[in-house]
Amino acid sequence: MWISLSRPAPNNACKPGSCRERRWCPASGDAKSTQGSSPNRSPGRGPRRGAHEENQVMNIAPLKPSDESAALALMSACFAEEPIEYFRSYHRLLPSGRPDVQLAAKVDDRLVGYIECQWVEHYFGDRTLPVANIGALCTHPEFRRRGIARGLLKAALQRVDADRHPLTGLHAAIPEPYREHGFWPVPHTEFVAEVPDSPPVPDRGTLFEPVADDDLDELFDLYRHENRQLLGPLVRTRRYFNGQHEWMSVLPREVAWETMRQIGRSVGYLRYRRESGSLKVLEVVASGRDRGRAVAARLLQQAHADGLGQVRGRVSPRAPFVRGIEQLTAVEIRRGEGLMFRINNLDGLLAAVGPHLSLRRRTVAVTSPPVNLNVAGQVRSLSFPSAQAVFGPAVEDAPVVDLSEGEFLALVFGCPGSAAALQKGDLRVDSRAQLEAVFPEDGWVLWEADHY
Ligand SMILES: CC(C)(COP(=O)(O)OP(=O)(O)OC[C@H]1O[C@@H](n2cnc3c(N)ncnc32)[C@H](O)[C@@H]1OP(=O)(O)O)[C@@H](O)C(=O)NCCC(=O)NCCS
Repeated sequence: MWISLSRPAPNNACKPGSCRERRWCPASGDAKSTQGSSPNRSPGRGPRRGAHEENQVMNIAPLKPSDESAALALMSACFAEEPIEYFRSYHRLLPSGRPDVQLAAKVDDRLVGYIECQWVEHYFGDRTLPVANIGALCTHPEFRRRGIARGLLKAALQRVDADRHPLTGLHAAIPEPYREHGFWPVPHTEFVAEVPDSPPVPDRGTLFEPVADDDLDELFDLYRHENRQLLGPLVRTRRYFNGQHEWMSVLPREVAWETMRQIGRSVGYLRYRRESGSLKVLEVVASGRDRGRAVAARLLQQAHADGLGQVRGRVSPRAPFVRGIEQLTAVEIRRGEGLMFRINNLDGLLAAVGPHLSLRRRTVAVTSPPVNLNVAGQVRSLSFPSAQAVFGPAVEDAPVVDLSEGEFLALVFGCPGSAAALQKGDLRVDSRAQLEAVFPEDGWVLWEADHY
């Protein structure tokens, strides 16, 4: 696919001394490092001027094996926080292996943009929903604000739509590039806990030990058991556990993965790393308030030993861990940003989430006539002929609730505050109550808790 590049914004050109991308930027004045690091530039050839020229075209095509090292170098430069091992391991160790879609944008045969997409599955109760997960979208600093990410997203979403995935998800550092492609933010919850001056001591009889290879089967069983009710990506297959364990040995930053043992057997686990003055919790599995409290005590103790002021992470507000840590210190639960979804196919989404919504209903006894949901112009009825919630074609004369796709997604994901969308329109009290029973605000969205 050939696309004309838009004109560079006047302030887009790199200025000598101001560009942080020394590995790439010709204006950094570091000709040696520029030549030596750019995978598509032969030594001694000098910096290109192409980025600042007009009337250029880019070609978007599947990544070729011969482009792999250039793509890794681009990702590594664009995501400065991530080690290049992340990207190598990402391709190799994730459960579904390599990304299902990898696209490269090239200008003059130079790789200047990249996107990848992976078919994953999300838990919806005991059901799964196929989701296309977009990641690693990046544009070379010299070529930004010229429509490269826009072109890559468009091409990736064409592949997603051709594969009929009902939903596309991603985690956005900035939301702007995604909005115009139909992505909506879906809030999730995070906790921030203060580390007390005298941290609590985990109970006697509870041991925390580094995870060993032969613990993984037991921990995986615990994970499956604990997370059945959560909504979120089903990324943690058994193979993924192997990958995480192997990965810790290549990560330059320290990640800890500990198993919690009581009477000689594993009853939970936690993974965490140190990040920007806090201890960041990547994942906690601990059933029951006492075990949640024991894990919380362990984290506070570690943070205190490391001189860190906070323990934080993404969490479901109903998790036993939250109730445990609230007993030990001041905890703030707040809204997290960055998670975005796009409804690709409303009927596919409804087919997958319908049974789950039936299970989640607050009032099992609801049986009532249909309500029409107008989701951004697509009207579907929701009725309760029996215990099962049934989505179907629009029904004449049924009350209507108008929802944006973002509002509908927030309802499906049970986001805090999502029921406010049902206050709009002329819904009768009984039909509103009926909808609120089907879309409980439980905030059980789990997403990339283990994203390094
Ligand atoms: C984010 C990134 C991929 C954008 O790439 P790009 O090729 O410059 O983006 P585009 O030119 O296609 O921009 C398309 C639209 O996205 C929005 N956008 C892009 N970059 C933006 C920025 N830094 N701030 C606000 N909006 C931005 C604009 O609406 C833009 O349209 P406009 O230029 O006509 O106003 C690029 O800045 C990058 O690689 N950043 C580092 C890695 C990263 O953060 N990746 C994204 C993870 S979420």
